[in-house]
Amino acid sequence: MTSPLPCLRIEPLGRELPVAPRQSLLEAAQAAGLWLPRSCRNGTCRACLCRLRAGAVSYRVEWPGLSAEERAEGWVLPCVAEPLGDVTIEQPKALDQRISASSSSGDAASAS
Ligand code: FES
Repeated sequence: MTSPLPCLRIEPLGRELPVAPRQSLLEAAQAAGLWLPRSCRNGTCRACLCRLRAGAVSYRVEWPGLSAEERAEGWVLPCVAEPLGDVTIEQPKALDQRISASSSSGDAASAS
């Protein structure tokens, strides 16, 4: 059975999560316990800028801080972007806070 909600995939982390109606990509990631770069959360500072690798988005603000060329090149602002179906973004700085919290509290180093 497939989820009726759009799926957000975050690479290279490899996490997939549902995006609720009217939820931005950033909000969905945060709700799932992920950390993504951000600051203003209103589409102006570009701190969240990353690549849209698959799918399409609409913007909840009329003039997000992206040029037409940047949009055409596949850049996206997750803080104000809402998915139009399943999407994949590439954000190398994304962190799974649940994994980070457990690994920073006594995780054994690798044996090799
Ligand atoms: S957090 Fe500022 S543009 Fe997305």
